[in-house]
This record gives sequence, structure tokens and C-alpha cells, in this order.
Amino acid sequence: MIALLEKSKVLGEVKVSGSKNAFFPAVGAGIALGAEKIVIKNTPKIKDVFVMLELLKELGCEYKIQSSEVIINAEKIKLNDVSPENFGKIRGSVVIFGSLLGRFENAKIPMPGGCKIGKRPIDQHIKAANSLGYKVEEKEEYVKAYGTPKKEGKIKFDIKTVTGTENAILMSINSKVEIENVAIEPEVQELINYLKKYGVDIRLENKEDKILIDGTKRKKIKEAEFELIPDRIEAGTWLILAAATGGKLKIKNVIAEHIKAVIDVLKECGAKIKIYENKIEVEGSEKYKSVDLLIADSYPAFPTDLQPQICVMLLKAEGKSRIKDNIFPERFSHIWELKKMGADISLENGEIIINPSKIYGAEIEAKDLRSTAALVIAGLVAEKNQTILKNFELIERGYENFVKKLKNVNAKIEVFEDEIRKEEIIKGISNYVPYST
Ligand code: EPU
Repeated sequence: MIALLEKSKVLGEVKVSGSKNAFFPAVGAGIALGAEKIVIKNTPKIKDVFVMLELLKELGCEYKIQSSEVIINAEKIKLNDVSPENFGKIRGSVVIFGSLLGRFENAKIPMPGGCKIGKRPIDQHIKAANSLGYKVEEKEEYVKAYGTPKKEGKIKFDIKTVTGTENAILMSINSKVEIENVAIEPEVQELINYLKKYGVDIRLENKEDKILIDGTKRKKIKEAEFELIPDRIEAGTWLILAAATGGKLKIKNVIAEHIKAVIDVLKECGAKIKIYENKIEVEGSEKYKSVDLLIADSYPAFPTDLQPQICVMLLKAEGKSRIKDNIFPERFSHIWELKKMGADISLENGEIIINPSKIYGAEIEAKDLRSTAALVIAGLVAEKNQTILKNFELIERGYENFVKKLKNVNAKIEVFEDEIRKEEIIKGISNYVPYST
């Protein structure tokens, strides 16, 4: 898919969808709890969700979708082998490991995938299973864990990992376990809430980055129902998009606390932001203050999943900005594309250096989900020419109805399945008339 983009100032209202990365632990909680019916409300209709649902089918589940509600029948879930092809398409699939261990004390998974944003090993997930007393068999194509987990145990992560922490929780659901050095992203905290709702004694000791779980006294359940929190990365993308285009947006269905670090940075740069209950208003400007050093890190710090997007906005700052991504230190694919648009952006000792620059429409290519979002923003900021953004379909992995939402706020974007015909580019989006079908 190709997106054709033209300089725009966004204006209007946008509603954020349910969280992609909270969907996977919700599925995991339902399976690990032993539920036969799992209902997940506020589910975004995005590709990564559909891939996960296909994987559940391979495990013997059935599902139906009613509006934004997904209903999973997990009565006949089995320890089938899942296809490496589907498993490798997304990262969220890795929670199947902890979920099956929680339900059957046995799991076999192929190697997970996800965006190509640097190394993404699963050694910490394996460490968690080992610490719980499972026997783990690690081969090039799969990981298998089985045996009887300890009734009481301790898992200590070497680094903070989001899905690793989720897996550790899910595989500990029938034991009493202390999990140390956990990730505390809102999606992890939601998993804790999901389990609490169904009688698991679980709590986060925030100051110590420790989770205490005791599932030994929980009751069996037949049905589990969860409602996904708003997607904080989608919300942050809209905030940055509005600021970068100098537009004005009302962003609805947001938990401001989940993106506090983003709001703080934007305010510091000079964007006007008002916070209401479940809603944020943002008004951009033409010039911003630079940031000396922005560090993307584990929650509550600035999220790595918004690092590519903020790079685009900082091109409009009056001085030099530096960014360091501690989570994915090689998440750079957007940089080379921004350079094609004339941006003065480079790498120095692992830091991204952004100098004030005007960017111009060009032919560019997205490589992963969040860089696609960043390059859309770039296309809406770029002067003179239109931008032709290739591999635009990547956006469908994580942003629900993105094009429709963009058009609703006056963004000039048109999407083409294959090649764009020359006359379209010449005509320009402002004069674009869709073909009759
Ligand atoms: N890591 C290891 N070993 C492990 C696990 C992680 O070395 O066993 C390293 C990773 O290589 C990385 C760091 O630890 O450098 C943190 O990775 P983490 O495990 O936290 O990431 P993840 O669980 O694979 C989730 C999100 C990502 C998001 C990261 C960081 C899901 C499905 N994915 O991935 O979301 O970037 O946390 O916040 O929850 C996205 O939505 O676009 C996306 C990439």
C-alpha cells in the first residue's frame, strides 16, 4: 500500500481506540485463569489482533467479533503446535507461553516476531520459567517448557521486560511467587487488574518494582470479561501529530496519566495542552524549544514507541535536540527516510541528533509500525512536494481506522493499493477525486 500525503494542519476531534498491547495479556489472563469463555471489550480491529485470534484458532479456540467486543470460546483449547508463520508475525504472541503454562503446566512456542526494531530475544521469559521450576527445552525453532511448577518461588529479571513480566505473571498463576525487577507499563498493571478481578491475590509494590502473586487460593472460573484501556501510544501519536503540524486536536478516550512523560515533553517544547477527564486538548505552534536530551525508557519514562514520532516534531525546534532510546537502541529506520526529505538528523554515539530543518515531500519507505506513524507525520509537515510513503499497510498492524480518523481532522492523505498513477500526484490531494468503483 502507498500513502500520498500533503502538508496539512489537523483540526477537530479524534477518539482513541482500545490498547493493542493490553489485548495480548487480556487473552493471556483468560486462558491462564482457565476460562471457557473470554470476552474482551473495546478491542481495536487491527492486524496484530487478528493474527493473535488466528493463533488461538490453531490452539482449538473459536472466536466471534461483535462490534468492538471479541468473544473467545476457549472450551476446547489444546496444546497444539502453533504455526511459526503466524506466531512470528507479531510480538504479542509470546504471551501464549505463560498462558499455556498457567493453564496446562506445559507449553511449546515457536520464536516470536514483531517489528524489526532491533534485537528481541526471549531469554528473560525462559529465565522466568526456569526459576519457577519448569524444565525448559530450547531449540533453534521452538521453546518448550513442562513439569510441575514450584508452589512457592521467586523470579528475578536481569532487565525490565514488558511481555516477559506478563509471561512471568501468567505462568505463576497457581503458585505464590515474588517477581523482581518487573516492568510497570500500564499494560502490565492492567494484567494485574484483570487477575485481581477473578480472585488472584496479586499486587505491585511500586517502589521496589516487585510483583507479589498468590494464586493458590483462587477459585475456578468459567467466564472472564475484560475491557481494554485506551491505547496510550495511539493517544501520544495524535498529540505529537497535532503539535508537529501546528494543528489543534481534541483527543478523546485518553488516560492522561499513561502519557504524562509525553505531555511533559510537549509542554516543555511549547505546545499548549489542556487535560480534562478522559480528554486532552492540544494546540501546536510553528516553532518549538529543543530538548537537550530525551531518553526513551521503561514506564513511566518517555516510551520508545513514540520515539520516531517525536523526532519529526523536534525538526521544528529552534535548536539542537538529542534523543537516546534505551529500550531499542537501534530503532533508527525513520532517520534514513527523514534524511531523504531533507532533515538534518544523524546518529552520534548511539544518540539521535536532530537539528532544526525544513523537510520536503519525497518518496520514502516505512519499515515498521511506529516509523510508519512517524513518516505520516513527516508527510503532513513536509513543504512543497507531496510525500509518497511506501509499505503504508504496516500502519494497520496497530492503528484502528487511521486513515479515516486522519481525514476527519483535515489531514490530506490518500491511500492506494499498488502504484500511484502520475496524474494523481500531479493533481494533488487537495484536488483529488476518487475513482468511481
Ligand atoms: N529483552 C531481552 N530479553 C528478553 C526480553 C527483552 O533482552 O527476554 C530486551 C529487548 O531486546 C529490549 C528490552 O529488553 O531491548 C525491552 O523489551 P520488552 O521485552 O520490554 O519488549 P516487548 O515485551 O517485546 C513490548 C511491546 C512493544 C514495546 C516494548 C517496550 C507488546 C506486544 N509489545 O515489547 O511494542 O515497544 O514492550 O515498551 O507489548 C509496538 O507496539 O510497536 C511495540 C513494539
